[in-house]
Amino acid sequence: MALLYKADPVRGEQWKALFAEHAPDIEWRAWPDIGNPADIDYLAAWQAPDDLEALLPNLKVLFALSAGVDQLELGRLPAGLPLVRLLDPGITRGMCEYASFAVLSLHRDMLRYRQQQTARCWQAHLLQPASRRRIGIMGLGTQARQILATLQPLGFALSGWARSVHQVPGVDCYAGDEQLPAFLGQCDILLCVLPLTEQTQGILDDTLFRQLPQGAALINMGRGGHLVESDLLAALDCGQLSGAVIDVLQQEPAPADHPFWHHPKILLTPHIAAMTQPESAFGVLLENIRRHQRGEPMVGEIDPTRGY
Ligand code: GLV
Repeated sequence: MALLYKADPVRGEQWKALFAEHAPDIEWRAWPDIGNPADIDYLAAWQAPDDLEALLPNLKVLFALSAGVDQLELGRLPAGLPLVRLLDPGITRGMCEYASFAVLSLHRDMLRYRQQQTARCWQAHLLQPASRRRIGIMGLGTQARQILATLQPLGFALSGWARSVHQVPGVDCYAGDEQLPAFLGQCDILLCVLPLTEQTQGILDDTLFRQLPQGAALINMGRGGHLVESDLLAALDCGQLSGAVIDVLQQEPAPADHPFWHHPKILLTPHIAAMTQPESAFGVLLENIRRHQRGEPMVGEIDPTRGY
């Protein structure tokens, strides 16, 4: 029984040590040293190699080493191969920390104060109480629910939108295309943690921005593919949006001439909202391997018809 790892080599050493200590029956192989490909039962990867079917003829499960799976290009995977995303509590903690940081930065006007600091300008602006700041989250899955629970004690007015109907205590939930305009119309800060699918590709565009209250702000910690970047620039330039915190881009790493680098109304970070932590993720991955071995359903299995 062998598992092939194909992701960051530094964290690979941590994974390898955890497997050696806690699951010595599972042989560890690290890309590109795959040995005899016929031995590989499991692939744990951030991105899948081309032509998986021919390369690993006995592969039984593909474990994504991430919460999102769009980068694996589902359409190219062998039909019927189970794909499981990683529900690492370390990823969720990272998402909650980043969401808190981004919401509070926008809520407390930090983009403006940063510019004032650079200009040596000591000037206070009116403070908006959190109870009057409406935060809307696009997505109501595992990450979104924990983010909402993290923001709740700060007293913000919270809402969420998803494709299907959800109920979250203390959160106004909206569902489907029909309720999207009503949801957007009451978001002072819109935070996207949707999965990237055909339906959500480019969802953060000019049409959507125009439905937000004037001067609203955006946080994208989903995927770069959600955002039409030129539409964000236009919305910031005309004042429809007042600021944005962006962790993901269409092209990563961002090219040196990307317009977001120097934009005064954009706080840009290099896809660091959350990172898979081998210490917290290992138990989740191993439990899924054991479940597969016992013929039980795995946690986080992707529904190929939905794409998440
Ligand atoms: C990171 O972007 C993830 O999907 O886990």
